[in-house]
Amino acid sequence: MIAGDGPVRDQQVEQLERQISELKQQLMQAQKLSSVGALAASITHEFNNILTTVINYAKMGLRHKDVKTREKAFDKILSAGQRASKITTGMLAYSRNNSDRRDPTDLANLVADMLVLVEKDLQMHRVRLQADFPDRPFASVNGSQIQQVLLNLIINARQAMSAGGNLAIVVRANHEAGMGEISVRDSGCGIPAEKLPRIFDPFYSTKSADEQGQGGTGLGLSLCREIIESHHGRIRVESAVGKGTMFTLRLPLVPVPAFAPTPTPNPADAPMNRAG
Ligand SMILES: Nc1ncnc2c1ncn2[C@@H]1O[C@H](COP(=O)(O)OP(=O)(O)OP(=O)(O)O)[C@@H](O)[C@H]1O
Ligand SMILES: [Mg+2]
Repeated sequence: MIAGDGPVRDQQVEQLERQISELKQQLMQAQKLSSVGALAASITHEFNNILTTVINYAKMGLRHKDVKTREKAFDKILSAGQRASKITTGMLAYSRNNSDRRDPTDLANLVADMLVLVEKDLQMHRVRLQADFPDRPFASVNGSQIQQVLLNLIINARQAMSAGGNLAIVVRANHEAGMGEISVRDSGCGIPAEKLPRIFDPFYSTKSADEQGQGGTGLGLSLCREIIESHHGRIRVESAVGKGTMFTLRLPLVPVPAFAPTPTPNPADAPMNRAG
């Protein structure tokens, strides 16, 4: 209840606005951590595989004294360790507390970093991942928030393909519109036309929580839209029942900064796409 008038009332309104904005930040952070929880099983599994590789090759190196075998063992241990480090770095970057900081960011790099975290989860759910980065658009974004959007879209897509399917992610620049575009297309169940207008509503969900009590809050897409619109971007959806769904994110392009780091290779060349 807002009582009083003039400056007192203004102060109360200001205080309430501050509280609302703090609660929004907390909700966003809670949703971010809950969606990464969906990857817990696959990431644990992957770490287990990495440790098995490290242990077995260390044993092999100890058993065989010849240089060639030992070099091979070191190589395998090194690449397993590098893979593990990529995953932990990615997790830390994703989980970083929300600040409002925005930096010119290579959108393709941002997507590639997210794919490192979801690859195994998709594989375990028999989803074939196809990623293509024909351009390397830059946009001024909060990387961790855009990754939250991507993770929500990818988990929704995987959940829509309960019997497996295809997931295609494309990053391109639309220079006429001055926008960088990220599209996420699945071959899942699709969304009936009468439900499409409601999917971005907070708490709208057609799912129930899984055994771990995860998912089905219906907050995923509403936060996606909030994040993208706060970046002056747009989120669009096209869907056909029984065929699949495509979400497209558009973010205003910024010039490529002079200090831009070397891009990660196009994932079309990476082994990821060859894995089934
Ligand atoms: N790729 C998709 N294919 C089919 N339906 C989808 C897809 N993405 C979203 N939906 C529909 O939109 C609804 C809302 O999605 P949203 O991510 O907001 O919530 P949720 O996934 O149900 O719950 P939460 O994200 O909290 O786990 C979903 O319940 C589902 O019906
Ligand atoms: Mg969701």
